[in-house]
Amino acid sequence: MAEQHLTESSASDSGQVSESQIAVHWREEGYYFPSARFIGQANASDPGIFDRFSEERFPECFKEYADLLSWDAYWHTTLDTSNPPFWKWFVGGRLNASYNCVDRHLEHSRNKAAIIWVPEPEEESTQAITYQELYRRVNEFAAVLRDFCGLKTGDRVTFHMPMIPELPVAMLACARLGVIHSEVFGGFSGAACGDRIADSGSRILVTVDGYYRNGDLIDHKVKADEALEAAAKFGQEVDKVLVFKRHPGQYASQTPMVEGRDFFVDDIIGDYRNKIVEPISMPAEAPLFLMYTSGTTGRPKGCQHSTGGYLSYVTGTAKYYQDIHPEDTYWCAADIGWITGHSYIVYGPLSLGTTTVMYEGVPTYPDPGRPWRIAERLGVNIFHTAPTTIRMLRKLGPDEPAKYNYHFKHMTTVGEPIEPEVWRWYHEAVGKGEAVIVDTWWQTENGGFLGSTLPAVHPMKPGSCGPSVLGIFPVIYDEERKEVPAGSGRAGNICIRNPWPGIFQTIWGQPERFVQTYYEKYCADKDSKDWRDWPYLAGDGALQAADGYYRILGRIDDVINVAGHRLGTKELESAALTVNEISEAAAVPVIDELRGRAVEMYVSLKPGLSPSEDIQQKVVEAIDREIGKIARPKSVWIVADMPKTRSGKIMRRVIAGISNFADVGDVTTLANPEIVEDIRHYVQSEKVQRGEEPRPLTPEEEEEIKAFGKAE
Ligand code: WT7
Repeated sequence: MAEQHLTESSASDSGQVSESQIAVHWREEGYYFPSARFIGQANASDPGIFDRFSEERFPECFKEYADLLSWDAYWHTTLDTSNPPFWKWFVGGRLNASYNCVDRHLEHSRNKAAIIWVPEPEEESTQAITYQELYRRVNEFAAVLRDFCGLKTGDRVTFHMPMIPELPVAMLACARLGVIHSEVFGGFSGAACGDRIADSGSRILVTVDGYYRNGDLIDHKVKADEALEAAAKFGQEVDKVLVFKRHPGQYASQTPMVEGRDFFVDDIIGDYRNKIVEPISMPAEAPLFLMYTSGTTGRPKGCQHSTGGYLSYVTGTAKYYQDIHPEDTYWCAADIGWITGHSYIVYGPLSLGTTTVMYEGVPTYPDPGRPWRIAERLGVNIFHTAPTTIRMLRKLGPDEPAKYNYHFKHMTTVGEPIEPEVWRWYHEAVGKGEAVIVDTWWQTENGGFLGSTLPAVHPMKPGSCGPSVLGIFPVIYDEERKEVPAGSGRAGNICIRNPWPGIFQTIWGQPERFVQTYYEKYCADKDSKDWRDWPYLAGDGALQAADGYYRILGRIDDVINVAGHRLGTKELESAALTVNEISEAAAVPVIDELRGRAVEMYVSLKPGLSPSEDIQQKVVEAIDREIGKIARPKSVWIVADMPKTRSGKIMRRVIAGISNFADVGDVTTLANPEIVEDIRHYVQSEKVQRGEEPRPLTPEEEEEIKAFGKAE
């Protein structure tokens, strides 16, 4: 393995460090190079591609991605900037996403597997759904949505579905009709789903009776009832709930079906057998789906993604960055409930006509060799997962990959920064030293990758995502809107200078928030129609090393990234406040070896109450219920009072410092500085007693904790 060491980069030696900057002390890692074998077969191996996507060619360069699709009508305007920052791509063009992902592959690949579904119970057999079968199922379900539910173009429908093949079928059925789907992660609570039903204005909910997770058949239908109740509180009525059955002919839930409202899909689909629903030719800028993500305030953000721009972008990036060929067997082990699954399990791979693998369950069930057995059995050659999963598999089964005879040519990581040590295990153990790795940096809002190496062209560098991807031109700004010099290794707020086809169109129902959150900070001139005046604020801290590679440092706002999922502190806190005894709550991140970050809650009680385990438990249950188990706090600390500013704002960075045994920073401006020592003593001695004292933090973790909650 050829490696080359670069010089150390440091942000702190430049003297002044502005608000946005995070001091960075780590060493840049050496390079790893792709194999000749990989390069020989890659979709993009000619560096000439960078000329085709150079800034001078923007925005026309993206025609190359759009040309990967089948259009009903060609567009007349590649990029319309007349209403900044509500960019429109491929205006005048018409297409259908379902047609592009299904119908157009029938001619050559009718009976090739489109989706291979792997149930969690190992004794249940896998299901290979050919393009022909997918075509049938999508058409039949589209008929149900149109004729049984009365849905029409532009309506929204909410899915609360786990990793079962009915989910992509339902998505593609919506796309066929121009109905906007909004999938809520199956692990989220009924209340969280209800919130999103109300926000999107959905009158139809699609769900399943149950699914397998870690060996248990989970009752999922019960969440539909909770969701409808929550939605009703916001004034949103749901007319129909469509319930798939996990096992045909059996009902996995204890919850009764509500007469006239709940319908088993099994009971109605027979009326639509072999029915054909012609794909509706949609304008390129018609919304395809909503994907909710947390923000810093209570109301979730429904990121609205377009049809033409989004599909072009995920198809192009899946082709060049994931090197997907139609002959590959591709497995992205993410959940379709997240944007990664939408873009890189469903839309990108199916648009390219490849075989995409879906796994129902937990990667370590029944043992940490499971993913490698799946890969071996199905002949997976492209693998995609997140650092949190890699860390877990490394911890529980470091020697498992070597026991199985599979061969990956390519692997992806996404969701949070990957530690170089973990990266190396991924490369050596999982990739067997053969596979290239792309560390892809992007966000729910972005549709597809923003930062990554082009796998056959750029060397890999552990811990850095790489340069920006084709047609993406980033800039790093400090708080004063001054450009941090390119390649200087100094940290700041990373922005993207230009629009791109995958960028979301708006926040559903909250256009002002869209402008304010992503564009206001660095917009030079609000009256300008020139995209150059509207840099997109990603909200991440980042630095660029001398070789042009970016290292992402994490969120600059107060969102907690647990296992790649962003959790808003405000959401967590409002969940805790649903417990009657609680008067105040603050959520902070703690460094967690497995999940990257975990949540800790600080709560104070209403007057006259005394702390009890019962109350702590109620907070845990509230968060499970309101947000989901993914957000379950590691600890709930009941404190007499929160450290506060004189204006009454809770100083999260102070308690974050305590939870992480880190410096709490300056507390002299607090209204109640004396409380800090009390809290520290209580929390830290309890942690020491439980053996939860963390390892010493790295300087950059220390900086991250210090920066937490600064946005307030
Ligand atoms: C945030 C977006 C879109 C994929 C899943 C997460 C962090 C994402 C990386 C990476 C370092 C990363 C950023 C980003 N992030 N990928 N490769 N390296 N950080 O989507 O929930 O919208 O979260 O995840 O902080 O802003 P998301």
